[in-house]
Amino acid sequence: MKVRKAVFPVGGLGTRFLPATKALPKEMLPIVDKPLIQYAVEEAQAAGVEEFIFVTGRGKSAIEDHFDFSFELQETLGSRGKTEALNSISDWLPPAGQVAYTRQQEPLGLGHAVWCARHLVGDEPFAIFLADDLILSRTPALKQMVDVFAETGGNVVAVMDVPRAHTNRYGILDVGADDGRLAEIKGLVEKPHPDAAPSTLSVIGRYILLPEVFDYLSAMERGAGGEIQLTDAMAKLIGKSPFHGLRFEGRRFDCGDKLGFLQATVAFGLERDDLRDGLKTFLSEITTAG
Ligand code: UTP
Repeated sequence: MKVRKAVFPVGGLGTRFLPATKALPKEMLPIVDKPLIQYAVEEAQAAGVEEFIFVTGRGKSAIEDHFDFSFELQETLGSRGKTEALNSISDWLPPAGQVAYTRQQEPLGLGHAVWCARHLVGDEPFAIFLADDLILSRTPALKQMVDVFAETGGNVVAVMDVPRAHTNRYGILDVGADDGRLAEIKGLVEKPHPDAAPSTLSVIGRYILLPEVFDYLSAMERGAGGEIQLTDAMAKLIGKSPFHGLRFEGRRFDCGDKLGFLQATVAFGLERDDLRDGLKTFLSEITTAG
């Protein structure tokens, strides 16, 4: 079955990035010249996703406006012959009727945000994107996962090794059969203490899940940090359908964290033909001066 729908939970408080996120959702923070959420939507498009479901909280209007036709701006750019600028705001817009918004009235946790999208997703496998996890890769990360899903079916999540000292920041896998790329998931635990973590393989912000996850989310059970955790509901899917973690090709940046955000800005800047040379010169000047 195809993965046609993707959910983008954007209702978090973004406390690690205050004051920037006081009036702006962190997913609207730009890396070079594109907001994080646009990178996520483009990655979804590249994997064949056709319907984009945003679960918003505060700052909803900035995201809605970004994915809307901007009549005045487009008219003005068009009449001034600024074709490149015009394309940059319109080329990637999903077609009318393929973007939906729902509101998470209270930030009760990622699991709750995903549950808010249940009627829009319906009864089919779907993707979830945490846009603050930005991935620089040759093949878009969700495309890599969709290819695995076509072979294995079931649930597929993106995973990477993290330092043991950091397991208490992530959902951590208990690993079954493992070929070094694809790991069968025997168990999942949210934010375990480093001493108690079953491995150092952690789930990062890309998921393909079966709709049964909504049944478990409906229980509204509170987990780590008193939040309704997606990890806890995913753990209940284990054993009922295949569940794999994919060590994707690429590098992940945690853009909800200040250092990760700066690293992503540099890495994505270096990818750009128009910026690479200037940025390299600046980096070598500033690092040798320091
Ligand atoms: P984070 O754990 O990064 O939390 O959420 P946060 O509130 O966004 O940021 P910090 O930690 O306070 O700085 C992971 C993802 O889950 C979404 C966030 O938008 C982010 O994409 N989320 C989290 C929700 O949509 N709703 C919630 O209630 C919690």
